[in-house]
Amino acid sequence: MDNIDLTVTKLGKATIPSPLDDVNYENEFSTVIYEKDAQKIIEEYQKNGKILAFEKAGPRGMIYHDPAWSKAAIITAGGLCPGLNDVVKGLTRTLMVRYKVPIVYGIKYGYQGLIPSYGHEPILLTPDIVDDIHESGGTILGSSRGRQDEKTMVDTLERMNINLLFCVGGDGTLRCAHDVVKEIARRRLNISVIGIPKTIDNDINFIDKTFGFETAVYATNPVIMAAHNEAKGAPNGVGLIHVMGRDSGFIAAYATLANTHINYCLVPEVEFQLNDGPQALFPSLARRLKQRKHAVIIVAEGAGQYLFEDDSAKRDKSGNKLHNNIGVFLRDEIGKWAVENNLDINVKYFDPSYMIRSLPAIGTDAVFCQLLAQCAVHAAMHGCTDMVVGHWNDCFTHVPIAMATSQRKKICPKSQLWTSVKSVTWLY
Ligand code: F6P
Repeated sequence: MDNIDLTVTKLGKATIPSPLDDVNYENEFSTVIYEKDAQKIIEEYQKNGKILAFEKAGPRGMIYHDPAWSKAAIITAGGLCPGLNDVVKGLTRTLMVRYKVPIVYGIKYGYQGLIPSYGHEPILLTPDIVDDIHESGGTILGSSRGRQDEKTMVDTLERMNINLLFCVGGDGTLRCAHDVVKEIARRRLNISVIGIPKTIDNDINFIDKTFGFETAVYATNPVIMAAHNEAKGAPNGVGLIHVMGRDSGFIAAYATLANTHINYCLVPEVEFQLNDGPQALFPSLARRLKQRKHAVIIVAEGAGQYLFEDDSAKRDKSGNKLHNNIGVFLRDEIGKWAVENNLDINVKYFDPSYMIRSLPAIGTDAVFCQLLAQCAVHAAMHGCTDMVVGHWNDCFTHVPIAMATSQRKKICPKSQLWTSVKSVTWLY
């Protein structure tokens, strides 16, 4: 708690009346309390004389950037995620239709689009161009992983006269946005940089939900049904599903609660073993098959990495450790274990990872994207910078990028979420 600073940087005093005349403006000092437990809030106040709180997101009565002289740019970076196009559309429309910002550029292929030598021309976005894009998965702007030189990127922003930059991405994208902010500050430029948190892993700190996550969980349903039917359709059938979740197993855990045909949920945050130990998968699987003749297992990609002998040090372009494939490993190990124990087992393996994240957003997620986009524009116009739009205690918030990227959000093994997963599965 002591190292948490939720103060959001402002470029300067907002002195221009907002052109939005039909909204309820948020008071400049509106906040959303971080702590959720009343007793803890009292203790915190007694100890520190203040309560940790996020700045509340929403339109402000006074804005910093003059819309008529503004130029915005939107970047989508990192892996795909349902809802990217909804966010691009929401940003474009809020900027152009609501605030009357005349020019909005779509930067192609993530941060590469700000480096001239890649040759990716920006596209001019208009309400007409973005009209149908929410119907498609992926991103019309394209994406890429990896850092780029912040000096060259800020040169480009200066050359294009951009004063509002929106970076839609996960922690790698946000870290890069933070470096861009530092370079902007060094040059004393008035450019607002606002992040919109995107990751189907739902692993961004201080943010209770990221867009696309709900769609990803929903999309696991047909796969779980297929795995369940396949498992039930053969003697000792085992349906094994591998889903994304590099360091956090939220998709696997929520999928397990959303469709309780799953009997084993394996996530990076909670250890399991194969043959021996208190949380050994195979003895439990043997019991389950003896009793019920079928089983469904869901495993998140970051689970059980300690089971591999060669714990590879390879990294992707965003600097994330590349994991060994736990799904394929488990499929093969279950097969070997069955042979060694003279069990006639039928394993059917499913890997829906990329299918899930390239879908369009479902209804509630699409709504969430729209609201995030609107809040991002309100924050930018007000002169906020170096922040990401968050969601906490049922409200939209402003979170300093440094806090959002300070560590990854993970499942707490003592949380209600994991306790609930345990109560509907067999292993833990
Ligand atoms: O965006 C995060 C994520 O979904 C991780 O779970 C996964 O490791 C990664 O994307 C894979 O993305 P890519 O194959 O594009 O590097």
